[in-house]
Amino acid sequence: MSEFPYLPIDAKGWRLHMGLRPLEESRWLEVDEHYDQETALKKELLATQRSLVAATRPEGDNASGELLDLVMDNLRRFHPEVSIECDASEHSVIQASRLVQEDLCVLVPDGTWRLQAACVCFPSRWDLTTKIGTTLDDIHAPVPGYAQQLAKTTTSFFDRLSPERSFWRLNWTLLDDPALFQPRRAIHADDVNVEEWFVRVERQTLRRLAVTGAVVFTIRTYVASVSQLRRTRDDVAANLLRALDTAPIEMQHYKGWVGVADRLRDALT
Ligand code: HEM
Repeated sequence: MSEFPYLPIDAKGWRLHMGLRPLEESRWLEVDEHYDQETALKKELLATQRSLVAATRPEGDNASGELLDLVMDNLRRFHPEVSIECDASEHSVIQASRLVQEDLCVLVPDGTWRLQAACVCFPSRWDLTTKIGTTLDDIHAPVPGYAQQLAKTTTSFFDRLSPERSFWRLNWTLLDDPALFQPRRAIHADDVNVEEWFVRVERQTLRRLAVTGAVVFTIRTYVASVSQLRRTRDDVAANLLRALDTAPIEMQHYKGWVGVADRLRDALT
C-alpha cells in the first residue's frame, strides 16, 4: 500500500466537529492506483445492487446534469489519464460516479437542504434508500450529538456556501471489515483480533453548483488495517486508544466500539 493519505486521529482524543478546510479545484477529485479496481467494483454493484447504491428523484435531475459536466471538465483538466466514456441513457449522477472513485450526493435547496440524487457504492454502514429525499437533519438523526452540536452550523454553512469557495473535511471510524460496500449497521464478532480491525477514513468535499445552486457532497473512502498503519506511524496505537477511550458512550454504541478499546489495549500490550 502506498502511504495512507489521511489519518485524522491525533493525541487530542475524540471530538465531533466540522473541521472544514478550503479546497482547490485541482484537489476536488483524487485518482490513485486503485482507480481501475474501485470503478470496476462500482460497475459490479450498479449491475447487482442498483437499488441500494443509486437513488434519484426528479428534483435532482438538473443539478446532476451540472455535476456530470463539472466532473468531466475536472478530469480533463487535472486527471487527463482517465478515459471519459459515458452511457448517456443513464442518470447523470450515475454516469458521473462511474468516472471517479468518489461517491456522489446532490443536495437541492427547497427551504431546507434535501438529498435528491446520489450514487453511493461505498457507504459506511448506512442505507441510501432511507436517506433519499430527506433533509440534512434527518440524514444525521442516528448520529449522537449531531442535532445539538452540528446541525445549526452545518445548515448555515450550506446556506452560505458559494461556488467560488469549496471545502473538504475528514471523518473516520474503526471497523472489523475492510469492505468498501457496507450498507448495514455493525454486527461485531467478539473473537476477531482487534489489531486486524480497519481504520476507515472518508475525505469529504462540499461544493456549490453555480447554475442550479445545489450542493455536491463527495465521499472518498480510504481503508487500512491497524497493523498496516502501525508499521508506518509510531503514534497510531496510542492515538487510536485515546480516541476510543474519550468518545462518549452513545458514540461508542453508534460506532460499534463498546468494549473495543479494552481488546485493542490487550492486543497492543
Ligand atoms: C459539513 C457537513 C457535514 C458534517 C459536519 C457531517 C457530519 C457527520 C458526522 C459527524 C457523522 C457521524 C459519522 C461518524 O463519525 O462515523 C455523519 C454521518 C453521516 N453523514 Fe454527515 N456531515 C456533513 C454532511 C453530510 C452530507 C451533505 C451528507 C449527505 C448525504 C451526509 C451524510 C451522512 C450520513 C449518511 C451519515 C451516516 C448516518 C447514519 O449512520 O445513518 N453528511 N456526518
